[in-house]
Amino acid sequence: MTMGDGTGRDTAIDDRPAIDPPAWFVEQANVSDPSVYDAFEAEWPECWDRAGELLDWDDPYDAVFRGDERPPFEWFPGGRLNASYNCIDRHLPERKNQLALIWEGPLGDATTYTYRELYREVNAVAAALRDHGVEADDVVTIYLPMVPELPILMLACVRLGVVHNVVFAGFSADALAERMERTGSELLVTCDGYYRRGSAVAQKNKADNARIAVDQDVSVVVVERLGLDVHLGDGYYDYEALRATHDGAEVDPVPRAADDTLFRIYTSGTTGEPKAVDHTTGGYLAHVAWTAQSVLDIKPGDTYWCSADIGWITGHSYIVYGPLSLGTTTVLYNGTPDHPEKDRLWELVERYAVDVFYTAPTAVRAFMKWGEEHPAGHDLSSLRLLGTVGEPIDERAWRWYREHIGGGECPVVDTWWQTETGAILVSTLPGVDGMKPGAAGKPLPGIETGVVDPAGEGVSEGEAGELVVTRPWPGMPDALRTGEDWGAAAARGEEWRYYPEDGATIDDDGYITVLGRVDDAINVAGRRFSTMELESAITGVTGIAEAAVVGADHETTGTALYAYVSAEDGYTEADLRERIAEAVTDAIGGVAKPEAVVFTPDLPKTRSGKVMRRLLAAVANDDPLGDISALRNPEIVGELQSATPDS
Ligand code: WT7
Repeated sequence: MTMGDGTGRDTAIDDRPAIDPPAWFVEQANVSDPSVYDAFEAEWPECWDRAGELLDWDDPYDAVFRGDERPPFEWFPGGRLNASYNCIDRHLPERKNQLALIWEGPLGDATTYTYRELYREVNAVAAALRDHGVEADDVVTIYLPMVPELPILMLACVRLGVVHNVVFAGFSADALAERMERTGSELLVTCDGYYRRGSAVAQKNKADNARIAVDQDVSVVVVERLGLDVHLGDGYYDYEALRATHDGAEVDPVPRAADDTLFRIYTSGTTGEPKAVDHTTGGYLAHVAWTAQSVLDIKPGDTYWCSADIGWITGHSYIVYGPLSLGTTTVLYNGTPDHPEKDRLWELVERYAVDVFYTAPTAVRAFMKWGEEHPAGHDLSSLRLLGTVGEPIDERAWRWYREHIGGGECPVVDTWWQTETGAILVSTLPGVDGMKPGAAGKPLPGIETGVVDPAGEGVSEGEAGELVVTRPWPGMPDALRTGEDWGAAAARGEEWRYYPEDGATIDDDGYITVLGRVDDAINVAGRRFSTMELESAITGVTGIAEAAVVGADHETTGTALYAYVSAEDGYTEADLRERIAEAVTDAIGGVAKPEAVVFTPDLPKTRSGKVMRRLLAAVANDDPLGDISALRNPEIVGELQSATPDS
């Protein structure tokens, strides 16, 4: 056996001894008894009562799970509960003066809300929404950056049984309009604008354009962040005025059936269109609370910081619902990690004495690049546990994170999950399991996964295959629960299974290493984009004949988008370059702008005319090309190679 040289490349993960969590961590961990795995196994599905018990129910459930080998599945049938009550009201007797939210803004401005203050805000906003005529099961779209009004509005919605549809603030007007139109949402909450990297973003302009673009009539509530004194015409309302009118009002939380929708969120599917994912009130909240407790080891009263954006599922589950349901203090940071200085995050960890920090591997790679002097200048000794999510973390970044942020001592959990799963499914339990840097870990107690070959059979250790989830889980989305969507399992004619579309390997301890997406989605900096969506934006530019987008390895973002395009006669590269960037920004948002746009007279195609994306990805990554005998136009390869910039 040879040990790695730190690059994580030359040693198979199963050869490596696991790193045990330190005794001081185990002693205080929420879950530290290794028998938890067997106990869940022996008592499945009743084992999930342990998650259900973390919540307060208005009506107790009749059973933890109801279902057979195949959908429909029901989690906590008969149970009724309210998520806003679970995240706020029930904590008041013990922690009304404890902070629920710490908000830190981009210009050094900060605000805090105790649980009592959060209660007051959420009730006022819920009363305002109710007076506006919003009712249970209506969908309200929220298009806000990381400001306190965002979680306040989410909690106000769910207090009324209203479904929130949060759209990431960085998305474009078109992307917002598409998501509103699909949902039929008639109320939109946005803000005048906000600061990003020191400059103002005119958010309301984007919202105005989306409002015009959709068929339905839309009322817009505007939160004032920048004091732009924007004109509020017909159908527009001022958030602060609504809040103030209802200040002091109390709204009874509306009990919801466990399977009622809590919220909707869009993600990138395999088609060119955004895919709606609806999460349930009972199963989702129980799963999120349980994993926040067992994996993120959150305790009531902890100060916990997840540096994701609430606009993505990570923020929904582990900035808002998980930590607040457990009565912790959750940090909301509206800013970037290197503004004004590259030690910004560490300054905040020190200032707020953060106990648990959860971020994306892309951020860790950026910290590593910026240098250890930035964290070294701060006292980070309050940290007890570190986590990552969103993409694979390589061994070198994992070790750097543990060493320079975690003082060489904190356990690091590499948590695998996705928008569809709602909550963590694969990780280590930090108070129980040894860690293998580079591998996410095992399926959590009660979760069953496998790694299979194309025939659906389990692969042998170390062999690459596809990750599958072979048993239902509480946080499963509505379409999988009801059977409306059998996903890939139906297409393959197998028994019910969920295919997350990730490649993986498994070692002889059952640890799973996630290799990346196997579908046409590209994960950039932990955010998922669909190649089809990108390609249709690019081919929408007059003068572009064809486009193919692939992922290329990138030092900090993990993967970067490389667009290969061919132009129609009479159009020059110089004309088109800027318009491609604009088109992508308009259709999706600046976050999706390709790192490289490579012009080529033709795309590599098979004899049947299919674009050979595999070859483009190989060229973009400077990898061996593999078998290109099926290529109709092999002469193009040399041109592609010389036109591709180094990744
Ligand atoms: C995809 C889900 C879960 C919230 C963030 C992204 C990748 C996620 C890991 C991990 C390797 C990971 C997968 C997954 N992914 N976590 N720990 N190791 N890959 O949510 O946009 O729904 O994307 O992110 O490819 O399928 P998402």
